[in-house]
Amino acid sequence: MQKIVIRQFTKKDRDFVRYLCCETAFNGRPAENFFEGRNILADVLTRYFTDFEPESLFIAEIDGISVGYLTGNKDIKRQKKIFKTKVLPQVIIKILFTGSIFKRKNLIFALSCAKSFFKKEFFYPDFSGQFPSTLHINIDARYRSMGVGEKLMEHYDDFLRRENIKGIFVTTISERAKKFFQRLGFIILDRRKISYYSHLTDEDFFRYTLGKKLF
Ligand SMILES: CC(C)(COP(=O)(O)OP(=O)(O)OC[C@H]1O[C@@H](n2cnc3c(N)ncnc32)[C@H](O)[C@@H]1OP(=O)(O)O)[C@@H](O)C(=O)NCCC(=O)NCCS
Repeated sequence: MQKIVIRQFTKKDRDFVRYLCCETAFNGRPAENFFEGRNILADVLTRYFTDFEPESLFIAEIDGISVGYLTGNKDIKRQKKIFKTKVLPQVIIKILFTGSIFKRKNLIFALSCAKSFFKKEFFYPDFSGQFPSTLHINIDARYRSMGVGEKLMEHYDDFLRRENIKGIFVTTISERAKKFFQRLGFIILDRRKISYYSHLTDEDFFRYTLGKKLF
């Protein structure tokens, strides 16, 4: 059996994290299914974690090869504040100056998101009182179902307990990921149908918010 090692993120892992997040952005599949412009998407999904809270980011390795990551945060309120003030403005500048918004695929996705916004599909109750921390986890598709995700989650659990953080919540649209989190002791806090991918597939998507208390 191959040995899974979990270690702290270093600056050298930045490109790997940005690459893997785009490879798995569409429910575990590549971002190009719904968006063109990996640099922009990687900024939205990972820049806060790599550049503003690297101490809560962990890498999984098998035989010295990086196969997955977990981007965590100790305080969702801090994350939201830094995202709005430091990450988002640069993302908007990149979108305008690269002409990314005028790409057909991106325009359709943006319109779809706007509709979802007015239907309140992005809204979910504020769970930060009981569950101040959150996470994203991504395993390279070639290395899933080998226990890598579980090892990363165990490591993150220990890390948060040492930091005296009382709970974690996570959101996902993946049924497989929902089961994965439930198996690790998370319970469903919220479930709502989302339609911003309905121009791409007939599949119904639900966004789950799941939470786990640590103390
Ligand atoms: C969800 C995800 C993180 C799970 O990671 P993983 O490394 O495949 O997780 P594990 O291997 O620890 O467990 C997954 C399954 O493999 C099984 N498994 C664990 N160890 C195993 C082993 N040695 N051999 C065979 N199966 C194993 C588990 O029973 C589990 O089954 P389940 O999903 O039906 O409960 C991964 O599929 C992923 O990255 N998905 C894409 C991104 C995503 O959806 N992220 C979640 C939202 S933030």
